[in-house]
Amino acid sequence: MNKIRTLSPARSLRGEISVPGDKSISHRSIMLGSLAQGTTLVRGFLHGEDNHATLKAFRAMGVTIEELADGDLRIDGRGLHGLAEPADVLDCGNSGTTIRLMTGLLSGQTFFSVLTGDRYLRKRPMKRVLAPLATMGAQIWGRGGGDLAPLAIHGGALKGTEYDSPISSAQVKSALLLAGLYADGPTTVWEPHLSRDHSERMLRYFGAEVRPFEGGVTVAPQPQLEGREVAVPGDISSAAFFMVAALIVPGAELLIRNVGVNPTRSGIIDILQAMGGSIELLNTRELSGEPVADLLVRGSSLKGIEIGGAVVPRAIDEFPVISVAASFAEGTTTIRDAKELRVKETDRIAAMVEELTTLGGRVEARNDGMVIDGVESFNGGAVKSHGDHRIAMSMAVAALRARAEVSIDDTACTATSFPNFWSLLEKVRV
Ligand code: S3P
Repeated sequence: MNKIRTLSPARSLRGEISVPGDKSISHRSIMLGSLAQGTTLVRGFLHGEDNHATLKAFRAMGVTIEELADGDLRIDGRGLHGLAEPADVLDCGNSGTTIRLMTGLLSGQTFFSVLTGDRYLRKRPMKRVLAPLATMGAQIWGRGGGDLAPLAIHGGALKGTEYDSPISSAQVKSALLLAGLYADGPTTVWEPHLSRDHSERMLRYFGAEVRPFEGGVTVAPQPQLEGREVAVPGDISSAAFFMVAALIVPGAELLIRNVGVNPTRSGIIDILQAMGGSIELLNTRELSGEPVADLLVRGSSLKGIEIGGAVVPRAIDEFPVISVAASFAEGTTTIRDAKELRVKETDRIAAMVEELTTLGGRVEARNDGMVIDGVESFNGGAVKSHGDHRIAMSMAVAALRARAEVSIDDTACTATSFPNFWSLLEKVRV
């Protein structure tokens, strides 16, 4: 859908907000809740398009998932071997997490299934999960020499594996861990730097035997998962847009309540603090095995820094909005080791360079990142989302520091992860 939105510069930002539930945790709560014995209650579930794709897929495999009056979910778990063969193709929409995690999970079933997605997802690489799953004995076929959806999966017996992943990817790791639940022995995954560990945490929370170690993690084949109550924290990747907005607008002050601050996701806080951003973590606590805090963010003078190495997977979805923050930092910011950005919902390096340049930003693409020089403010103008929710929201944040109106083309995509983004942004503008 092609919805153009026009934003005017912000005088200031103020207030208290809560962002919607974490997308990654919401996906996993449906998957594990469906595979568990007994009932799983999911509080604070993210009702975004990506998570609805996962929800529909599990309903199509015979799982009863009831939406309660307040948006919480009650999942009637069917046990590890209780899913039914879906009568039709499972449509994962725009969601890389849905298709890649389900590829692992479906490899271990006793039935046939087909996964597809929208025109963006059908261009994204799948061999990264298919190749290691093949070493477990999975039978999966895809277009493009077995790299592209639609994917056809002939589920069956799996062997445990040891996989040394060349990339730090929670989707690859999680696909293997889920397949590992069905294998005949332990499955171990190594990765160069630790990617988000929500699967490991939630598997353990549901009673699985998961052993993390320096550089990797092992899962034991599991006869049974137990249904639990899951409280989903606010998504730090959604909070990131408001964090950067509050930092770059002079005099702004925002309190963002109930944000997940899992250390494998909180790279954005470390990066923005290293740039001189004022971000305080208040009331840190734990919810269903995940750390949570309230974030107090104040308008700050930022400075350019070097970003690379282990922090990159810890902030992988935040680089579009980090490039906006860097545009208002004094000096140069260099982002390295982030080649993965080229295979996200869109090529996020190319997309941000193009759109920031349109607004008068000084940014250059590198193969594995960007080099960004700070500017005083942006020009007004017309920019595009490239159909990518995080590009659309990053440009909305950029518009707050423009000298004139910015119109953003194709903004309906924000519904994939942050359905009330625009109304929350209006709420905090003063
Ligand atoms: C996700 C993992 C990340 C991230 C994506 C969600 C997940 O992808 O970019 O938005 O829920 O596991 P990779 O694991 O491919 O880096």
